[in-house]
Amino acid sequence: MSKKKTAAIVLAAGLGTRMKSDLPKVMHPIGGRPMINHLLATLDKIHVEQTVVVVGPDMPSLESAVAPRKTAVQFDRAGTGDAVRVGVEALGAFKGNVLILYGDTPLISEQTLNAMLEARDNTPDGAVAPSVVVLGFEPMDPGAYGRLVVDEEDGELLSIVEFNDASPEEREIGLCNSGVMCFDGQMLPQFLSRLNNDNAKGEYYLTDCVAFAREDGFSCAVVEGDEEELIGVNSRVELAQAEVIFQDAMRDKMMKGGATLIDPSTVYFSFDTKLGRDVVVEPNVQFGRGVKVGDRVTIKGFSHLEGTTIAGGASVGPFARLRPGAELGEDVKVGNFVELKNVTLEHGAKVSHLSYLGDARVGADANIGAGTITCNYDGFLKHKTDIGAGAFIGSNSALVAPVVIGDGAIVGAGSTITRDVDAHDIVTTRADQKNARGAAERFRDKKRAEKELLKKD
Ligand code: UD1
Ligand code: MG
Repeated sequence: MSKKKTAAIVLAAGLGTRMKSDLPKVMHPIGGRPMINHLLATLDKIHVEQTVVVVGPDMPSLESAVAPRKTAVQFDRAGTGDAVRVGVEALGAFKGNVLILYGDTPLISEQTLNAMLEARDNTPDGAVAPSVVVLGFEPMDPGAYGRLVVDEEDGELLSIVEFNDASPEEREIGLCNSGVMCFDGQMLPQFLSRLNNDNAKGEYYLTDCVAFAREDGFSCAVVEGDEEELIGVNSRVELAQAEVIFQDAMRDKMMKGGATLIDPSTVYFSFDTKLGRDVVVEPNVQFGRGVKVGDRVTIKGFSHLEGTTIAGGASVGPFARLRPGAELGEDVKVGNFVELKNVTLEHGAKVSHLSYLGDARVGADANIGAGTITCNYDGFLKHKTDIGAGAFIGSNSALVAPVVIGDGAIVGAGSTITRDVDAHDIVTTRADQKNARGAAERFRDKKRAEKELLKKD
């Protein structure tokens, strides 16, 4: 961490035209949350004091996604230098480090940002610390990135040349500008005031500040980052690439934390998924937002979970759908084709096959038979079903809420329960069974005769 205080300006005024979307570009999600929020979470980790997000006019969804952080509106998209000027105005006088980041480059790591801040403090042999630190990288395809011109002897950054303004020799340079920079906050306003738009794009280039710092006798440094963390998202294709990078990192993190993923590339995590030790996740499982899984849990293939908490030793799936508010106690079993929504299953409860339970409590060790449905919605309101500990619900039962099934009660298969059942009672609501002795043959004889008659006509 740097000795100086740090503020951040995040540029996010771009329309993201290539996304072809009604949503501001930086609001598109990666791992279940807007990409801008990934970046802001990383800034929180490095203890940034103040953040200003530079937004375009009319981006209310973005303003609320970044709240309570400050936003500043850039009305004319006149270039990165102009955008930073807008950010600096909102920041007010700030003498520490000012980090400049792009909202559409969301996967930058905490380590890389710390390396940049440390470089700002770096004063070898009593030299003055660099007033600008630029994050460079060497992409496989340098394409149209700005190129970093570096002194071959001491590695000092001499200038940044935008691709459109670069000579053929400069375009040969492999070291590129990621766009992330760290400035001496005291110098930055002065550099910005000198920018002009006399260049190929007719924009105010932030990158020109490097040359101004050099003119004033200050040094500029380069820190190098990884291409993967610096991926910029400008299109849906790049969004998918960023998702792959993010998911791979999550899979690694989960495995390092003690979970087994049998086929990692088929498991998808949310940014906030938590897995305990000795969790086994089978192939093709998807975690939505807000899932916490305790130790020794197995999640079998093709399950989909969101807003769910699972305690130790439970088993889920295959093909289970756990929706928000599903709370599974220790050693609970949820089997195939079971959908749960806003349900608490207490210790050892079992719902093994083909059920829908919504707005319910299932007591410890209760057994819910195949095909049980809680009828929780009457078309207007939701109602609760309460099933006591040790109760047994026979297969294909409909529990019409609001309804209470007492502890240890037994519901006969195929029942439709509309009234409360006392603890330890047995209840059945189906019609009595009638057996007509030998009737099957008599019935068939009659039908065969009817068919013969029809043929003769
Ligand atoms: C910029 C850099 C280039 C670098 C590249 C890395 C400059 C002049 N060039 O070029 O050296 O290699 O990024 O991706 O800085 N933005 C605003 N307001 C504006 C203009 C841009 O908020 O008026 C935001 C955009 O939303 C985007 C970021 O700044 O998030 C970069 O802008 P972009 O136009 O993509 O810059 P590049 O031409 O790619
Ligand atoms: Mg760009």
